[in-house]
Amino acid sequence: MKTKKLHGGVEIPVIGLGTYKIGNTDEETYRAVRTALDAGYRHIDTATLYENERPVGRAIRESGIAREEIFVTTKLWGSDILSNRIQEAFDGSLSKLGLDYVDLYLVHWPVKGKLGFTWHAMEQLFHSGKTRSIGVSNHLVHHIEELLRDASIMPTVNQMELHPCLTQKDVVAYCNRKGIVPVSWSPLGRNNIALLENEKLATIGEKYGKSPAQVILRWNVDKGFVTIPKSSDARRQKENLAIFDFQLTAEEISQIDALNRDHRTGFHPDKISF
Ligand SMILES: NC(=O)c1ccc[n+]([C@@H]2O[C@H](COP(=O)([O-])OP(=O)(O)OC[C@H]3O[C@@H](n4cnc5c(N)ncnc54)[C@H](OP(=O)(O)O)[C@@H]3O)[C@@H](O)[C@H]2O)c1
Repeated sequence: MKTKKLHGGVEIPVIGLGTYKIGNTDEETYRAVRTALDAGYRHIDTATLYENERPVGRAIRESGIAREEIFVTTKLWGSDILSNRIQEAFDGSLSKLGLDYVDLYLVHWPVKGKLGFTWHAMEQLFHSGKTRSIGVSNHLVHHIEELLRDASIMPTVNQMELHPCLTQKDVVAYCNRKGIVPVSWSPLGRNNIALLENEKLATIGEKYGKSPAQVILRWNVDKGFVTIPKSSDARRQKENLAIFDFQLTAEEISQIDALNRDHRTGFHPDKISF
């Protein structure tokens, strides 16, 4: 699996498995993460919010794969910031995962008025050695600028909604300048904004014998993003990994960039409340 190096030297596999709503039950979640690990995924993305850290962690622990070979991300939810329970939230995630450490801990969404405070607590968690890297999610440029005012560690990644209909050029350019790796969530538009039926993506895919989903994921990798598509289905999990035997041309990348409509499927980061 191709990786990218984060600030501080930790390597992140460029494709991970998203786990939001990956199973209706703990058993389904466990099965989906196990099939993904069997298929070759070595990067799993979860969050306190998803209420699935237990089965995700069990699948990782029972996979038979060495812990250090799997990159595990989880996230801090806003209400735990507002109630000043950041350390407790982190300890709770580790305990539910049944792991001694995570590879990446993220601030899930920016909490207005608390950015510096939150980042300071994240830095303390990093120094405790129980998370190998720290980063942010859903942060716009002004959020990152604010948290950096008093920071000693640069966020390693910014996980944000990114797909051909929402390219967030300004945030991506800023992150690239700072060496913060963009990680795309809902890379397939959660399969509800007709992205996978797009004719342009289908035409490009035909040339390489690839599906529109594979074209989108390859576009992510060619643009330097890390991406975390979710699939509960073993066949589609494999399909989403099979993108390393072709490469898009600069012209095709521009054609996909041109599909942008600034279409968000999730919250605007300045409008979320907890
Ligand atoms: N940081 C944040 O605020 C945030 C927010 C949202 C999501 N996330 C993370 O990002 C991950 C991915 O985003 P997402 O789950 O919202 O959406 P997504 O990965 O864009 O799309 C998932 C949907 O696409 C379908 N799918 C997957 N592969 C496919 C393929 N090859 N062909 C056709 N359909 C396919 C899945 O169905 P099947 O499962 O049936 O295959 C599912 O319906 C989440 O799981 C979560 O880990 C983070």
